[in-house]
Amino acid sequence: MNLFRPTLGVKVFISYLVISSGIAWYLTDTAPDKLSKGIDKAAEEVMIDTANLLAQILTFDIVNDQINIEKFDRITSTYLNRQFDAKIYDFAKHKASLQIYITDLKGQVIYDSTGRYVGEDFSRDNDVYLTLKGKYGSRSSAYDRDNKNPTSDEKAFYVAAPIYHKGARFGSLTVVKQASKLRAFSVTQEEQLKYYASVIFLISLLFGAGISLMVSRSTNKLIKYTTSLSKGENVASPNIRQVEFADLSKAIEKLRAELEDKEYIEEFISIMAHEIRSPITGIRLTAETLLLPMDDEQRTHFIKNILDANSRMDLLVSRILDLSKLERRDTLDNVEKTSVKRLIKNVLSSPTRKGLIKSKSIELKYDIESDVEIEVEAILAEQAISNIIDNAISFTPNGSSIQIKVRESNRNVQIKVLDEGEGIPDYAKGRLFTRFYSVARPDTGKRGNGLGLRFVKKIMHLHGGSVALKNRFMKKDGAEATLKFPIKS
Ligand SMILES: Nc1ncnc2c1ncn2[C@@H]1O[C@H](COP(=O)(O)OP(=O)(O)OP(=O)(O)O)[C@@H](O)[C@H]1O
Ligand SMILES: [Mg+2]
Repeated sequence: MNLFRPTLGVKVFISYLVISSGIAWYLTDTAPDKLSKGIDKAAEEVMIDTANLLAQILTFDIVNDQINIEKFDRITSTYLNRQFDAKIYDFAKHKASLQIYITDLKGQVIYDSTGRYVGEDFSRDNDVYLTLKGKYGSRSSAYDRDNKNPTSDEKAFYVAAPIYHKGARFGSLTVVKQASKLRAFSVTQEEQLKYYASVIFLISLLFGAGISLMVSRSTNKLIKYTTSLSKGENVASPNIRQVEFADLSKAIEKLRAELEDKEYIEEFISIMAHEIRSPITGIRLTAETLLLPMDDEQRTHFIKNILDANSRMDLLVSRILDLSKLERRDTLDNVEKTSVKRLIKNVLSSPTRKGLIKSKSIELKYDIESDVEIEVEAILAEQAISNIIDNAISFTPNGSSIQIKVRESNRNVQIKVLDEGEGIPDYAKGRLFTRFYSVARPDTGKRGNGLGLRFVKKIMHLHGGSVALKNRFMKKDGAEATLKFPIKS
């Protein structure tokens, strides 16, 4: 079953999405409600003050146990028609928007600023009822008494205050504020909240996307890196900026180096033991033979065999030690500028090599088009060139020729060594650079140590160059080895 497995990046993004949607939901859904309740409470507080103030003023207008309604009506109607220019943030207000009504002690309306309800019985409305009972009276109900099913905007807030006369309750005064008049504030606030919510939502979403991208890029790099490592590929540790992932990458790199060291040592020891076992067995068998009676000539022959095996072992051990030293290096020492011709000349001036070339009657052909100077560690560069020339010498038949070509391109110089041997057999093609891999020479039937090309590869790597070995193109026989050294401008 192919189950969907969300990556860490996707999970981080989803978390951001959930959190930011939560915040946005709160800001657009729950917060406006709380906000408008807050506005209502603030308005109620001011209404209480207003109702009490008006009730107190009325107290002074009670003559002969009668409220001077006419005077009060004059005051309120001029007050309600008063024009002004108030600005509450973005909200302009030009007229008072209150309704005021007064009831007598029985709850009957004796004055209403709208003129609608004079004479009606309000004694069962909470504002009037509670106030006349000496309690705080208020209510929130339809602005229009005939409306039995008011929406929140069709409601109004009613806050009443008692009117006293001669130390006793005399009636009640109610101030009324339509909810729709207050709603304007919460609507503006709500719009602003919605705007902020969408900005917060977008920012946190972008932020989440950024973080999840960063997390998934880092993890992908690490996954790619570890996958390549597990396949045995030679990859550089990824460049990760995120501290935790960079530390993890470094830890993996360290682990890889330690494992590689361990593997390297194990491989080396096992192959070395194997390589050394045959000369040791050879020496034992020859020595046992020497115990048998024989003439001087035979004895000399066997002793020479032992010495031969001994020097082969000696050579192998020193080559192995050299290679293991080289393989642990990651920089060049004593870098100098040398011309390519000079390097080749030094290699070919070695007496042993000269002797070999002569004894196999090999003709050396030069096709050197460039003598550019390159920056190298001369001893190593010569070692690389000598290894491919030695291979050509040992694989080319007697009396044939070896061609040494030098070509220069804009960025590197190529040294090519072409021989006329049998070339590389198909079965050996993928293994040429493996340690200890060696094919017997066609003329002598002897194998080498199989370390030469390994040296060459490491040396070329240290120089920022490369080595390649393939069969010659357009020619029936022979191999072509190429070394590429970079030219530094
Ligand atoms: N010019 C060539 N022609 C044919 N095969 C070659 C040539 N050069 C290298 N090879 C193949 O590559 C193998 C590895 O070469 P390498 O130089 O590493 O080892 P070697 O020559 O066998 O041993 P060593 O160099 O350690 O003495 C050789 O054994 C051979 O099979
Ligand atoms: Mg070799």
